[in-house]
Amino acid sequence: MSATIQSPPGAPFSRIMGIGSYRPVRVVDNAEMCTMIESSDEWIVQRTGISERRWAGEDETIHYMSVQAARQAMERGGVTGEDIDCVIVATVTHMTQFPAIAPQIALELGAQGAPAYDISAACAGFCVGLAQADALVRSGAATNVLVIGVERLTDITNLTDRSTAFLFADGAGAAVVGPSDEPKIGPVVWGADGAAADVLKMTRMWDDETNEEKPTVYMEGQAVFKWASQTVARKTTEMLDKAGLKVEDLDLFVPHQANNRIIDAMMRTLRMPESVTVARDIKRQGNTSAASIPLAIETLYEEGLAKSGQTALIVGFGGGLIFAGQVIVLP
Ligand SMILES: CC(C)(COP(=O)(O)OP(=O)(O)OC[C@H]1O[C@@H](n2cnc3c(N)ncnc32)[C@H](O)[C@@H]1OP(=O)(O)O)[C@@H](O)C(=O)NCCC(=O)NCCS
Repeated sequence: MSATIQSPPGAPFSRIMGIGSYRPVRVVDNAEMCTMIESSDEWIVQRTGISERRWAGEDETIHYMSVQAARQAMERGGVTGEDIDCVIVATVTHMTQFPAIAPQIALELGAQGAPAYDISAACAGFCVGLAQADALVRSGAATNVLVIGVERLTDITNLTDRSTAFLFADGAGAAVVGPSDEPKIGPVVWGADGAAADVLKMTRMWDDETNEEKPTVYMEGQAVFKWASQTVARKTTEMLDKAGLKVEDLDLFVPHQANNRIIDAMMRTLRMPESVTVARDIKRQGNTSAASIPLAIETLYEEGLAKSGQTALIVGFGGGLIFAGQVIVLP
C-alpha cells in the first residue's frame, strides 16, 4: 500500500514586500578610469552610457554589502530576521567556492537556521532568485524569502583591460518576497545558452598552476551585445504576454544595467511608449551584475520616478549565457 504524502498548500500568490540596496563609497569617474586604460570619457559614454561607477573598498565585502542591503529591504518590508525562512544570495564573486555565503548572512540577520544558499546566474541572478522566491512562497516551502544580488566584480576584473575595465563595478541589492492575495510577481521567462559559454567567462580556472595571476573576466563584447539586444530583447515581449499585460500597462522598465544601447534596443523591440519610465542607472553605477536591478529601482525611488504599487518589467541577462525576467509590482 502506498502512503499518502501530505502537501500543505502555499500562498496563492507572492509579492515583493521591501527592496534595499548598498552602494560602495568610492566613486570612480571616467577621467580616473582613463588613467588605467587607453580610452576617453567621450568613448565610454557614447558606447555604454557610463559616466562613473562605484568600487568597493576592502571593508565593503560581499558579506557586508549584502547585510546592509538586506537590512534595508527587511526594514522597509516590515519583517525581522526571525520572519525570514529562506535566504538566496545571487553572486558570482563570492571568492570562497564553498561554503556558500548565504548561511553566514542569514546568521548575521537573525535568520539563523533558515535554509540559505547561493546561486550562480551572473547578471540574471536577481531575476532568477526572485523566480525561485516566488515559487517557494507559492509552494509553501517558505513564507518570507530574502533574495540578495551582490557583486564585487572589481575582484575579477583586470583593471587595465580596455575591453572590460570601464564596465564592471560593485554593489548589492535585496528584496523580501512574501505571501500575497493578488499576483504581484509575474511568471518568469528564462533560459540559457551553454553553447555561448565562452563569450563571457573567467580567463581560466582558479587551480591553473601554470599561471600565478588570478583569473579575470574575458568578454567578447560584440557577441554579448548582439545576444542581449536581439535574443533577450525578443524575450521581453514574452514576459509581458505571460503576465497578460501590454507594454502600455507598464509604469517602469528596469533592465539589467549593462549598456545604454542594449536598453535602447529592448525599448525598440517592445515599442516602448514615452509613458514608461526607463532605468538608466548605468550612468552612475556601471554594470553591477546581480545587484544592478535593485540598485536601479532604488535610484528611481530616490529620484521620485518610482512609487509603491507601480508595475515594472525587470530583465536580467549575462554570463552563462543566462537570462530571466518578469513583471513585478513595486512595494
Ligand atoms: C564592450 C563594448 C562597449 C565595446 O564596444 P564595441 O563597439 O563593441 O567596441 P569594439 O571592441 O568593436 O571596438 C570598436 C573600436 O573602439 C575601440 N575601443 C575598444 N575599447 C575601447 C576603449 N575602452 N576605449 C576607447 N576605444 C576603445 C577599438 O579599438 C575599436 O577601434 P577601431 O574601430 O579603430 O578598430 C560593447 O561591445 C558592449 O557593451 N558589449 C556588451 C557588453 C556587456 O554588456 N556585457 C555584460 C553583459 S552582462
